[in-house]
Amino acid sequence: MTYQLPVVDDKALWDTWLSLYQVPSLTVALALDLFESLDAEPDSAEGLAQRRGFDVRGLRALLPMLTQMQYLQLLDGRYQITQTTRHYLLKSSPFYWGGLLNRLSQSLPAHKLLLETVNGERANAAKTRPADSWESGHVDPELARAVTAYMHSHSMAAAIGMTRTFDFSKTKRLLDVGGGSGCFAIAVAQADPEVRCTVMELPTICELAKGYIAEAGVSDRVDTRTVDMFRAAWPTEYDTHFFSNIFHDWSFETCLDLARRSHAALPTGGRILLHELLLDDGSLTPRPAVAFSVLMAMGTLGQQFTLGQLRELLLEAGFHSVEARQTYGYYSIVSAVK
Ligand SMILES: C[S@@+](CC[C@H](N)C(=O)[O-])C[C@H]1O[C@@H](n2cnc3c(N)ncnc32)[C@H](O)[C@@H]1O
Repeated sequence: MTYQLPVVDDKALWDTWLSLYQVPSLTVALALDLFESLDAEPDSAEGLAQRRGFDVRGLRALLPMLTQMQYLQLLDGRYQITQTTRHYLLKSSPFYWGGLLNRLSQSLPAHKLLLETVNGERANAAKTRPADSWESGHVDPELARAVTAYMHSHSMAAAIGMTRTFDFSKTKRLLDVGGGSGCFAIAVAQADPEVRCTVMELPTICELAKGYIAEAGVSDRVDTRTVDMFRAAWPTEYDTHFFSNIFHDWSFETCLDLARRSHAALPTGGRILLHELLLDDGSLTPRPAVAFSVLMAMGTLGQQFTLGQLRELLLEAGFHSVEARQTYGYYSIVSAVK
């Protein structure tokens, strides 16, 4: 089945989904007395993490989200409370909304996860995040099925859309690293019958991807390859390495390791493509990327990146000619050449 690009993009769905992380951001701020702390002393995420013993990655996601929602503002590198926060979100105010928000927090699973993320319990607790399975290289079939279907939902339209806005004409063989259901490899193969694509994944996900590839009618040009990207040797016969929503799962250091592995496996002139929701410089906008970072803080070991951060990382790994282009919905592709 050849997939046609829908006549409207899926931004409305992204907005609805990611709005799920707004109320928990607020209720966690109340539970941890963040506004009282920042009223007493405006601070950076790093400074507040140190002062209060919080997880710095959690705060680097949460404080921009609260700024997006206009409860904080960043001045001279330090977050401070806004007038809305002073009147409605400080416990000492007669107009405090805590009675409502604290009760609401009990019915929000994301409140507990975000609270544990920011207070550091989640990093130390039993490894239950999807990224913990990915890091181990073993994803059981049930989790693989659920997570792959989840990713496929938010990536399918972006995959087809990307092939309409990004120039893949130089690509002959594409390696889709951590390709999940294979939707991006499928989209590239459907757009150009000359291209051969491989989904490089963990074993249980490769089995699932085969089904999606068959359903799309491109099994003759898209295959799967079981390679643990952290432990196994990478194949070398590809001119393009494509990573969608992979770098946002990991720390800067782990991403640098992945970029170096990619650089080593590509031929000279080969391209690396990073498909991500980019944060603007300063990391406080746009809202979808800021909210996606909150989700990454809870479920992975990563965060969304700015173009500047990805450029620095790619240059450090040995790539050159770093460029970025908006592709479809909220997504962009950052490209670089070996
Ligand atoms: C956030 S999902 C992205 C899926 C897809 N690229 C997309 O954008 O929809 C991350 C993917 O990386 C894969 N992955 C994680 N660790 C991996 C590893 N060690 N080796 C290969 N793939 C891995 C996961 O199985 C998962 O499908």
